[in-house]
Amino acid sequence: ATGPDLEGRHVVVSAGGTREPLDPVRFLGNRSSGKQGYALARTAAARGARVTLIAANTALPDPAGVDVVPVGTAVQLREAVLKAAADADAVVMAAAVADFRPAAYAAGKIKKKDGQDPDPIVLVRNPDILAEISAERARPGQVVVGFAAETDDVLANGRAKLARKGCDLLVVNEVGERRTFGSEENEAVVLGADGSETPVPYGPKEALADTVWDLVVPRLG
Ligand code: PMT
Repeated sequence: ATGPDLEGRHVVVSAGGTREPLDPVRFLGNRSSGKQGYALARTAAARGARVTLIAANTALPDPAGVDVVPVGTAVQLREAVLKAAADADAVVMAAAVADFRPAAYAAGKIKKKDGQDPDPIVLVRNPDILAEISAERARPGQVVVGFAAETDDVLANGRAKLARKGCDLLVVNEVGERRTFGSEENEAVVLGADGSETPVPYGPKEALADTVWDLVVPRLG
């Protein structure tokens, strides 16, 4: 068991997957259930933190004692994270955020036209929330943690992503159709901007969450 080493701290966790609407009934989304982010929120609360959980399209019970802010799109997630991060000691981005969204939203349901090819879906870039909060820390000493969902060259891609995003820690987990997304377990390597590498063996998402907080605590300002 871990002591109340996050007492007096405010931490922000994002969880789930953004949905980028095409029309009133369709969206571009991903397979995130929110379980890893909720495990981070639960473990932080158990360690004494005040927790704001920004939840994108999750269907999980609200963790006890946690302030849950529901959001839909990446743009809404950004607004909610920036607002909550203003007085946060640490921000952990476990949400799967769409890099792109449809350029246009059709107010009415898109119809198929007889004998015609479908129109292509044109995408535009979404804001990179992790890069933004890493570059502009809302308070000095704020610790920023990202997640990286990789399917191949996991460590090399993780190192490059850590440098590009500018966060303090990056949790690199391998994902696949039946791996990590939606499951109760995860396996990861936590990379530090200081060059550290902490492997976390396959196990419950809570165990990985606790290791993340173990690495955050000594870095807090
Ligand atoms: O929710 P579960 O079913 O439990 O699954 C957990 C998980 C696989 C979703 C989680 O462990 C995970 O890996 N989350 C991050 C998924 C992701 O979007 O990875 P990425 O490599 O595309 O993004 C890297 C980082 O940048 C992430 O911290 C992401 O939140 C952030 N990001 C990405 C794009 C964007 N426009 N803005 C961001 O802030």
